[in-house]
Amino acid sequence: MKEFLIAPSILSADFARLGEDVARVLTAGADVVHFDVMDNHYVPNLTIGPMVCQALRNYGIQAPIDVHLMVKPVDRLIPDFAKAGASIITFHPEASEHIDRTVQLIRDHGCQAGLVFNPATPLHYLDYLMDKLDVILLMSVNPGFGGQSFIPGTLDKLREVRRRIDESGHAIRLEIDGGVKVDNIRAIAAAGADMFVAGSAIFSQPDYQAVIQQMRSELAL
Ligand code: DX5
Ligand code: ZN
Repeated sequence: MKEFLIAPSILSADFARLGEDVARVLTAGADVVHFDVMDNHYVPNLTIGPMVCQALRNYGIQAPIDVHLMVKPVDRLIPDFAKAGASIITFHPEASEHIDRTVQLIRDHGCQAGLVFNPATPLHYLDYLMDKLDVILLMSVNPGFGGQSFIPGTLDKLREVRRRIDESGHAIRLEIDGGVKVDNIRAIAAAGADMFVAGSAIFSQPDYQAVIQQMRSELAL
């Protein structure tokens, strides 16, 4: 397992040439495809669903696809995304009536499961789940849009979650999503994250490889 994973958020990719753009960012050195699903109900924006995930697989994308569900209700979409080729499925606990059941449903469908915490969502949702989670995702912006600024208070929250993961002894990825850039990724890693979602920071640049390499060299320092 690589120590640090870079997961470009395709929310900022070119949707008119999505397959091509995703292939390009993977060739540029990305590890995981971060796939943002928004429903205009749980969050005030509308994006893509299982058909697009399947289309990326049909196009030949083989990297892990990390499906970030910003939808309510959650459960109905899980079998569809698993069938469409999702590798990881994360959801927001306040969007599920039965959190343990949703986690189990994801695992029963052969995917890795993760909980997502908005900037002001308390961490107590982790209390009885540490042995069932593959990923914990902390939002460092309020969900719904790319291109927002990193909320600095998330660094303390990251340290707290890192402590809980280490204490648990489980191999849980700590993912961060929102406002991740070359100039803050090192501090974010120092606070405990090991999987970095970056949308606008990568896709707004003409040379994806250069940005990803800069991020990796920040992480290596
Ligand atoms: C926001 C999404 C993020 C977003 C990140 O709701 O979950 O994945 O695309 O975009 P940047 O990196 O531009 O903040
Ligand atoms: Zn996301």
